[in-house]
Amino acid sequence: MTPPRREEAPRPTPGGGARAAALEVLAALEDESAFLQPAVDGTLRRARLSRVDQGLVRELVAGTTRWQGRLDHALDQHARKGMDQTPVPIRRVLRLAAYQILFLDRVPDHAAVDAAVDQARYLGGEPMARLCNAILRKLSEHGDQPPRGDEPSALAARLSQPRWLVLRWLAEGGPALAARRGAACNRPAPLTVRPDRSRLEPEVLLTRLQAEGATATRGTYAPEAIHIEDHPDPFGSDSFGDGWWRVQDEAAQLVGHLVDPQPGETVWDVCAAPGGKTRHLARLMQGEGRLLATDAHPGKAERLAQTLRDLACVRVQQHDGTVPLEGPPPFDRVLVDAPCSGFGVLRRHPELKWRRTPEDIGRLAELQARILDAAALGVRPGGVLVYSVCTDTPEEGARQADAFLERNPLFSLDDPPAGAVDWAPLMTDGYVATRIEDHGTDAFFAARFRRREVP
Ligand SMILES: C[S@@+](CC[C@H](N)C(=O)[O-])C[C@H]1O[C@@H](n2cnc3c(N)ncnc32)[C@H](O)[C@@H]1O
Repeated sequence: MTPPRREEAPRPTPGGGARAAALEVLAALEDESAFLQPAVDGTLRRARLSRVDQGLVRELVAGTTRWQGRLDHALDQHARKGMDQTPVPIRRVLRLAAYQILFLDRVPDHAAVDAAVDQARYLGGEPMARLCNAILRKLSEHGDQPPRGDEPSALAARLSQPRWLVLRWLAEGGPALAARRGAACNRPAPLTVRPDRSRLEPEVLLTRLQAEGATATRGTYAPEAIHIEDHPDPFGSDSFGDGWWRVQDEAAQLVGHLVDPQPGETVWDVCAAPGGKTRHLARLMQGEGRLLATDAHPGKAERLAQTLRDLACVRVQQHDGTVPLEGPPPFDRVLVDAPCSGFGVLRRHPELKWRRTPEDIGRLAELQARILDAAALGVRPGGVLVYSVCTDTPEEGARQADAFLERNPLFSLDDPPAGAVDWAPLMTDGYVATRIEDHGTDAFFAARFRRREVP
């Protein structure tokens, strides 16, 4: 069977605009390694869907991707030849329908099945329509029987996580940790934001969000963090339009406070795109001082310069962080928010878990070490270096930081700054380590080093 090219896919299919759009995004994630959020946004810009249907597309794409492993296991019970023998485009149709059948109470099973059968017919003719009909009717009748027990394959299917990742979690903390972390990664993340106007107090933003009809609450760990729930239209709101807030998870906000830049200082944000932390650093500096934001990727550096152009204290430059900056070390503070495996943000980017390989971790750890060593040369005597990653693998976390200290005797581990944040519940062995399953934030690892005063 030759499936039609994506751009030829029916948009929208009769009676199923949201499902056709969701299928298109699922194809882009698999075939083009697209990222979930921008892919959904791009499709929604083209498809003319009601607000309700747009919400359904987001839910279908995120849910189907998040639960892909569990859905495949459930479908496998009813597919005579097995899911891995089913053509890839038909597999996607089956997963999308299975997610609705097993996870969405508000969608009647027959609506999900009928839409899937139409999609399968379009993609593979009558044989594929019959196949989908048979599998999905059985699934609807018998439901989901996730495997029991703590055997790695059973845990992987039940938690909908790659088996190799479950094996790592088992080695780290046994079945209890694997079950808790696996489940926590599958919970949708809250919409957490940070006030983004100079001297805008979180309480003032909170009041405005509440006046817009939202339920909004203060965060637990980061002083400015606000969780927005039940906002009628957060990104169409006046508060967002007026630039009062930016999306940033609490854990990411903590990194800015760990750097703790002061007005008038000279600061370097080495891996800066897309600029969330640069913006926070500039706010903490109250716009006074010099903040250099670099990124190795030319396109990203260009976009970064655009998005940060309202910040007069920021200069953007394309620069490969594995190469030292020229000249004497001028920076009071340097942040290395390094490229990483990203397991700390699986709630928002479930597509990552199906894409990453075990080899990625070693490769990324090596790159992080090279960036750290080069960035360290930019820190003035007595200055601060902060290393952070949005993941929880030991190779990219504590082991990376320990190895840095061994290689760089001019640096020692520094305590987090007292004041804005209560760091005690976030500390593990002198490092900041948030965990999705413990803190309800993204998982971040961060280390703060200080260079000795004597050059
Ligand atoms: C985790 S992201 C940074 C997120 C950013 N700090 C923020 O808060 O918005 C890592 C960034 O590092 C960049 N990067 C990858 N390799 C790099 C290198 N060798 N030097 C500098 N930046 C690099 C990537 O392009 C990516 O934008």
